[in-house]
Amino acid sequence: MKAFIVSRYGKKEKLQLVELVEPVVKENDILVQVHSAGVNLLDSKISNGEFKMILPYKTPFILGHDVSGVVTKVGPGVSKFKPGDEIYARPADHRIGTFSAFISMNEKDAALKPKNLSMEEAASIPLVGLTAWQALIEKANLKKGQKIFIQAGSGGVGTFAIQLAKHLGATVATTTSAGNIDLVKSLGADIAIDYQKDDFETVLTDYDIVLNSQDKKTLEKSLRVLKPGGKLISISGPPDPGFGQEINANWLLKIVLKVLSAGIRKKAKRLGVNFSFLFMRAHGEQLSQITKLIEAGAIKPVLDKVLPFEQTNEAMTYVESGRAKGKVVVKVK
Ligand SMILES: NC(=O)c1ccc[n+]([C@@H]2O[C@H](COP(=O)([O-])OP(=O)(O)OC[C@H]3O[C@@H](n4cnc5c(N)ncnc54)[C@H](OP(=O)(O)O)[C@@H]3O)[C@@H](O)[C@H]2O)c1
Repeated sequence: MKAFIVSRYGKKEKLQLVELVEPVVKENDILVQVHSAGVNLLDSKISNGEFKMILPYKTPFILGHDVSGVVTKVGPGVSKFKPGDEIYARPADHRIGTFSAFISMNEKDAALKPKNLSMEEAASIPLVGLTAWQALIEKANLKKGQKIFIQAGSGGVGTFAIQLAKHLGATVATTTSAGNIDLVKSLGADIAIDYQKDDFETVLTDYDIVLNSQDKKTLEKSLRVLKPGGKLISISGPPDPGFGQEINANWLLKIVLKVLSAGIRKKAKRLGVNFSFLFMRAHGEQLSQITKLIEAGAIKPVLDKVLPFEQTNEAMTYVESGRAKGKVVVKVK
């Protein structure tokens, strides 16, 4: 089967298209023929070596975190799926590899594809959908009537998170550049701030929740738009000790995480707000809930580009530009 692999870590390294044998199907695995694969910044961060400490993949390995496709084989312990089922998934860490003709994964990571989405649309959802779900529902417990500030509303996470927050009944503020204001408003944003012209800190006050996806300066400013008791959830770092516990980090990594997040945790404490880092994880059950919301029309995919599989490197370069409006997907089959 054809697959794009990372053969060497590095900023200048490109993925290589190679021929490999089909993956092994374990007891609780499903084998999926990949139709489309979503491209994420996480793919670039892993490939350039930024994530080596947290996710130490040994080269060579197949890259890719989002998939839609058809189940072609199931392990003897599989109970949720059968051959022929159309699924989508963000396979678990250490079992990634969706830039490939086939992937095997534990059945607990997958969900039935929303019936009203094409394969390309479905592949754009899992990683960003689960990120928004775990931030807004699990961590923030976002409730009707609360105010949330979602940064970069026109990006992959932002386009999904705005729609989920509106579905939950929140008031949503977001940032984007002038050209994307109409897009974020069409998704439901109540307040759209052009970050190149206006400073969100002077516009927003007394927010319950901030979903931070930008740099350190933005993270620190975000603390000041929260009301006392508010929650700052960051998906762009710094990782905190709670995350170290979640991934069972060794003692050295635990110390590193404590040091990396010490500054922001101290500032948050001083202002009486809560800071936490989120690194999303695979979750087929939550993805099934997302399927229901999509089938009910509450959330729609936002696709910027669909490129042919052979152009996976170009798709990654485009995502790395930071200008994507919603998601970028490669069509494998
Ligand atoms: N921890 C996790 O589990 C997790 C999960 C998913 C993503 N992430 C991280 O979260 C970040 C966002 O991911 P993503 O996939 O949503 O990114 P993305 O899709 O690449 O974001 C691109 C969008 O960001 C907007 N943007 C760029 N600079 C901005 C700024 N200063 N203020 C507001 N908007 C800005 C751009 O709009 P304009 O073109 O209008 O500027 C563009 O539409 C990344 O760092 C990613 O690695 C983390």
